[in-house]
Amino acid sequence: METWKYYGITHSDHEICNPTSSAKLDELVSLLPLRPDARVLDIACGKAELLMRIVTAHGARGVGVDLSPWEVPIARKRVSERGLSESIEIVEGDGAKYAMEPGSYDLAMCIGATWVWGGLEGTLKALAAAVGPGGVVAVGECFRAQTLSPEYVAAEPELAPTLKSHAANVRCARDMGLDFLYALVSCQDDWDRYEHLQTRAAELYAAKHPDDPDVAALLEKRRREDDHFMSMGRDQLGWAIYLLRVRS
Ligand SMILES: C[S@@+](CC[C@H](N)C(=O)[O-])C[C@H]1O[C@@H](n2cnc3c(N)ncnc32)[C@H](O)[C@@H]1O
Repeated sequence: METWKYYGITHSDHEICNPTSSAKLDELVSLLPLRPDARVLDIACGKAELLMRIVTAHGARGVGVDLSPWEVPIARKRVSERGLSESIEIVEGDGAKYAMEPGSYDLAMCIGATWVWGGLEGTLKALAAAVGPGGVVAVGECFRAQTLSPEYVAAEPELAPTLKSHAANVRCARDMGLDFLYALVSCQDDWDRYEHLQTRAAELYAAKHPDDPDVAALLEKRRREDDHFMSMGRDQLGWAIYLLRVRS
């Protein structure tokens, strides 16, 4: 089954496509040290929920970039429905190829897609360059919540070796010249909502579209991922949005 379709269906009921609650997202928005008229860049913006909240709260202007042909039209529609088309531009494309003029943003974000630059280090480097000294960076990233079990490592051969601890994620940012301001760390309730909404969406889609040839693959993948989450990921995988400032 095509990746974008799988992601689009499983996230059809999410406005926030990561394991952060709506209240925590509002907290993040309130903690951003931004001047009015700030320029904000969101790479892998999904449905642009965070970008819209920032623009509304801070009077900022924003650009959101996303590669998914499913998510981009949704993001554009939501921006238009909230009357923010003058302030937010949504670009369809690969974030890694987006021309970010160095030092031209006040805030640069990537929430839940550090693979765009090959991991956390590459992401911090790219976003720090986009804002320049004194600029703000927000990165959403997973961390190892406890020692990973051999079963988890075997089930996640690509992800597991890349996972740092929460403290090591912060250390990594500091070592790269970013000051750590704050972290919004998700709790199990946040994770449960994020994961189970995906399962609900897949099951309801399958019931409504029994003739879709992708339904069997959709359910097989989602049920496998759900079991993986409940048996291992729920305890072993953490998630945080790190708020950082590039050292002057
Ligand atoms: C976990 S979601 C996070 C979305 C959004 N940041 C949020 O938190 O609601 C990851 C997003 O990354 C997008 N994505 C994946 N690879 C990308 C790439 N190379 N460039 C831009 N966006 C990408 C996906 O389409 C998806 O919307």
